[in-house]
Amino acid sequence: MRKNIVAGNWKMNNDLAQTEELITELKNQTKTSNAEVMIAPTFTNLWHSFESLRQDDIEVVAQNMHFAENGAYTGEISASMLKSIGIKTVILGHSERRAYFNETDESLAKKVDAALAHKMRTIFCFGEELADRKAGNEEAVVGGQIKNALFHLGADAFKSIVLAYEPVWAIGTGETASPEQAQDMHAFIRKTLADKYGKDVADTVSILYGGSVKPANAQEIFSKPDVDGGLIGGAALNAEDFYAIVNAF
Ligand code: PGA
Repeated sequence: MRKNIVAGNWKMNNDLAQTEELITELKNQTKTSNAEVMIAPTFTNLWHSFESLRQDDIEVVAQNMHFAENGAYTGEISASMLKSIGIKTVILGHSERRAYFNETDESLAKKVDAALAHKMRTIFCFGEELADRKAGNEEAVVGGQIKNALFHLGADAFKSIVLAYEPVWAIGTGETASPEQAQDMHAFIRKTLADKYGKDVADTVSILYGGSVKPANAQEIFSKPDVDGGLIGGAALNAEDFYAIVNAF
């Protein structure tokens, strides 16, 4: 059985005081679903968040990391640095990283390798742009992103990989893929995995949807058979909204 996961990507939001406040509010929420819950605060607040949530059922994860072990990479953070403060999961390949920081399938493949070498779990993000979808190329683009960054891996690696389909046109825009569009793409992603690694592997990988998920639309999206959860941006900055989404399962 694959896991249901709801992960909040806080992006570059919340200073230390705001982080403390939001974590306190998250602790006051009640979880009624079986979903695994994660939050991804900014680097400077990871340690504090991890310590604050030590006893709670919320995993603190990183938004990014570098592929190198250490060295002359000013401004970057390594897998071992994350591991040393207790972080076990990292988001890689978010479309904002790809668009604004020139992350490519090749550099992401190296980051995934580094995460695996450190026994970290990866939430690997990908998704097509609006022009791709308008041209009917969304499956070719998504299939290419998955193959280029992940298909050098052995089947075993997929025990540590969660996929997150995030159509770029739906991120932070208020525009959501319809539940049917999400299901169609998730089924395609699972088939892409099955063709390469077999159905047993494909059936155990959680595939999250991301892009303007809100309390009002979460239930319908999560009801689709190949949607195993969500990567939540804006709505994760409000504790009640975030838990309404967590409890939408
Ligand atoms: P959004 O962001 O929910 O604000 O659209 C999703 C994401 O970027 O992961």
